[in-house]
Amino acid sequence: MSEVMRSLRREHANIATLVKTLDRQATALATQGDADFEILRDIMDWFLSFPDVYHHPKEDLLFSRLRLRDPAAAERIGDLRRLHEELGYRSRTAAEAIRRMLIEYPTPRHLLIDRIRQFVDMQLTHMRLEEDRMFPACVASFTAADWRDLEAAMRDEDDPLLGDVVDAHFERLRRTILAWQAADEWIGG
Ligand SMILES: [Fe+2]
Ligand SMILES: [Fe+2]
Repeated sequence: MSEVMRSLRREHANIATLVKTLDRQATALATQGDADFEILRDIMDWFLSFPDVYHHPKEDLLFSRLRLRDPAAAERIGDLRRLHEELGYRSRTAAEAIRRMLIEYPTPRHLLIDRIRQFVDMQLTHMRLEEDRMFPACVASFTAADWRDLEAAMRDEDDPLLGDVVDAHFERLRRTILAWQAADEWIGG
């Protein structure tokens, strides 16, 4: 597997971890009437500062190359760049709703739960599209030179939350995720 695919898959695994953490908070909000809003805010800060800034642009580069190598497959996938813009917009609106809760200008709870769940569903659907359709189409049609070009063009930033060096801003979130993962209640790995 090319280094490009390895790093995109690693990033998807990290997105899946954060999506699961979000979903868990939405469930707490729905069933217990409360959630950890600072953790929710930190999760959204991570989406805004990592996948939206570094992960999606890499996939946009892959998709541009796929349009050249297998235009029919690219056509079937749709407009990936527009989907990334939509994901970025959803990240910003979910982050905004959580910030409003934190500064005591509450969004009705059910609206916040809906917004978080929509965001979770959208992230999962999007990753499935890439894992099931886009990545296999790239692997099947790209040449070794394509992968070399892409690797040279990509900026490989370390994840500030789940990478080797943890940004101080994400320390608490990282500890929370590790504690949940260590506990029995973290179902499904
Ligand atoms: Fe994507
Ligand atoms: Fe992705």
